[in-house]
Amino acid sequence: MAPTILQQAGDHLASAGANKAPYTYTDPLSEVPTLSGVDVSADGTTPIIDMEALLGPHRSEIIKQIGLACEKNGFFAVKNHGIPEMKINNMLDTAREFFHLPDEERLKFRSTDPNSVIRLVTGFQDKTRNIFVSRQSLKFHSHPVEEYKSQWPSNPPSFRENVGEYSASVREVEVAILEAISESLGLERDYIDKILKGHYVSINYYPACQESELDVTYGVRTHTDPTIITILMQDDVPGLQVINDDKWKNVNPLPNAVVVHVGDILQALSNYRYKSLLHQAIVNCEKERVSIASYCYPSDDAMIGPAKKLVGKDHPAIYKDFTYREFYESMWRVKCSTAKRLDLFKARAD
Ligand code: OGA
Ligand code: NI
Repeated sequence: MAPTILQQAGDHLASAGANKAPYTYTDPLSEVPTLSGVDVSADGTTPIIDMEALLGPHRSEIIKQIGLACEKNGFFAVKNHGIPEMKINNMLDTAREFFHLPDEERLKFRSTDPNSVIRLVTGFQDKTRNIFVSRQSLKFHSHPVEEYKSQWPSNPPSFRENVGEYSASVREVEVAILEAISESLGLERDYIDKILKGHYVSINYYPACQESELDVTYGVRTHTDPTIITILMQDDVPGLQVINDDKWKNVNPLPNAVVVHVGDILQALSNYRYKSLLHQAIVNCEKERVSIASYCYPSDDAMIGPAKKLVGKDHPAIYKDFTYREFYESMWRVKCSTAKRLDLFKARAD
């Protein structure tokens, strides 16, 4: 069955028996989701980038395609990325196993401290808006793998090995894509690599429709990611939606491809040429869904304001110079879930 944008939670009582984590959290974000007048187009418009070609003799052509996709769509799919299928399947299996563990095992990782190395975020009810956000996610640092591995779950026993292998492979894709993105902006190939530091993973678990007394169930509400880019790997259950041309579009999973999208930091660094992608996830009534988001972020002192080369008479700086630390600290203060949190760093107040 095709996923629906709004799920009347009362119509679909809990079927995924293992997922009873309590929904006690209050909404940490203040944005109202953009639900009215939603017009979801079918998929079919996802730009597809061939990574093998990027590393071959037609590199400059593929870089143009990447630049165009970042500018016009804010996202693209990458095929032939080189992450072995086995590592992807192991990662997805491990993710499912983790979220099928009994509550007490998973809830050990629950934390409201965004600075903790690892934390489990459960679904929550936003009673003011009558919305239940059903996503459960395990979020943790993962680069370099050896530095963080010992703090990851040891249950299921495959967790550390499978997640470590997947993360290391994704890192390679990340670096190659960031090099191409730098070049697409006319910057030195290593412009972004030079400021790149860590890698943060969110294992997202969307239970098949769960019971809630609230009207609407969401997977994850409309947001942008506070990253340079995000690399999202989805299982075969659709759920991701993005805003393109002022319309919501489904980005259905393509076999063996990952989705790359522009985050807030790239929006600032590119002087607003590449816009941070607004996206959300919806729930599926029949099937649980798993996705693995890999967010990459710069070092604390990195300047993430517009690259000097991208600022000139015809292109005034949209943002001031600011560091990632300043952005990160403000992010928890302003409690905004979209790239509007960058407005604090605008060069001129509008
Ligand atoms: C995220 C996210 C979407 C999805 O983890 O930031 O937007 O489809 N995930 O799971
Ligand atoms: Ni996201």
